[in-house]
Amino acid sequence: MTGAGSEGRASGTCSAHSAHGARGERGADNGILLQLRGVSKRFGGLRAVDAFDLDVREGSITSLIGPNGAGKTTVFNLITGIYRPDEGRITFAGRELVGKLPHQVAEAGIARTFQTLRLFENLTCFENVLAGQHCRGRAGVAASIFRTAGQRREEERMRSEAERCLRQMGLWGCRDELARNLPYGNRRRLEIARALATRPRLLILDEPAGGLNEEETAGLMDLIEEIRGSGITVFLIEHDMQVVMGVSDLVAVMDNGQKISEGTPEEVQQDPRVVEAYLGTEDDTDEMEEADKMGESNESSMSETEQIGKTGNAGCGGDRDAGRVRTDWHEPA
Ligand SMILES: Nc1ncnc2c1ncn2[C@@H]1O[C@H](COP(=O)(O)OP(=O)(O)O)[C@@H](O)[C@H]1O
Ligand SMILES: [Mg+2]
Repeated sequence: MTGAGSEGRASGTCSAHSAHGARGERGADNGILLQLRGVSKRFGGLRAVDAFDLDVREGSITSLIGPNGAGKTTVFNLITGIYRPDEGRITFAGRELVGKLPHQVAEAGIARTFQTLRLFENLTCFENVLAGQHCRGRAGVAASIFRTAGQRREEERMRSEAERCLRQMGLWGCRDELARNLPYGNRRRLEIARALATRPRLLILDEPAGGLNEEETAGLMDLIEEIRGSGITVFLIEHDMQVVMGVSDLVAVMDNGQKISEGTPEEVQQDPRVVEAYLGTEDDTDEMEEADKMGESNESSMSETEQIGKTGNAGCGGDRDAGRVRTDWHEPA
């Protein structure tokens, strides 16, 4: 999918005017910017997220890791208002998020990217980032027709913000390229640039290194540290533990909808429950091999939205390792 539909609404598009001060921002409670308490989400009989608790500290890089199907993306979808939890509370800077729509969550200061890229394929990089900011015009109809000076100033501000974000992500040189012509690594960066242009207080990234090679991943992790350095809290989903080792202050590990471990990267790496969740028991491994032999597709375990996204990105290298349990994460970087 080329991203113009649900994605525009969901990806944190509306904070063009919501730079920190303008939002009437509140302080984080005891330094906790985002808090989840007892959050659950069921799909039919499946407990995708089960009594999940998490604190994301302001200014941190916090990572949520776990095997495929653990419930990570569902947690993001609950935070960003795509789903409503069956139970539990989610607060951001002390304010309740449950019940807010995706654009309201974005206005509150949360921007996100998606596991499967959702760009405006036929727009340039610059236009993609601008589009990320355009969804709430402050000016009324009359002003839109006559283009007031205020509106022109606002557009100018958006353009310079777009430039700043493209430069930050190393994409200024290809600002006039169509998104669909970008190499995959740059497409990932473009999505982050677009999210940053909304000036979020919290940036949440769903497997930003998915489909990237080792070098691209290392570069991306440096950029994520830079983003945090600029004052934005980062909450990251990653399938591959190795990727988050170097950058995370705190890692939470999910399996079967539940948090099974939490701590520094070193701590969770040594937790036997984590090792088991990733590597599985011998029986699990046999089952996986058996399933492979039978040609079972891993598509069936993907959420509907991700299946749609995946179709639209055929050939772009995304989800390269989807469905594979990685066993290389426990080796120190
Ligand atoms: N919209 C949905 N409808 C039904 N099941 C879903 C939906 N979204 C996710 N799931 C299921 O919930 C579980 C967790 O999925 P997800 O959060 O995408 O996992 P992860 O991101 O950790 O790989 C999976 O079993 C998945 O198939
Ligand atoms: Mg996911």
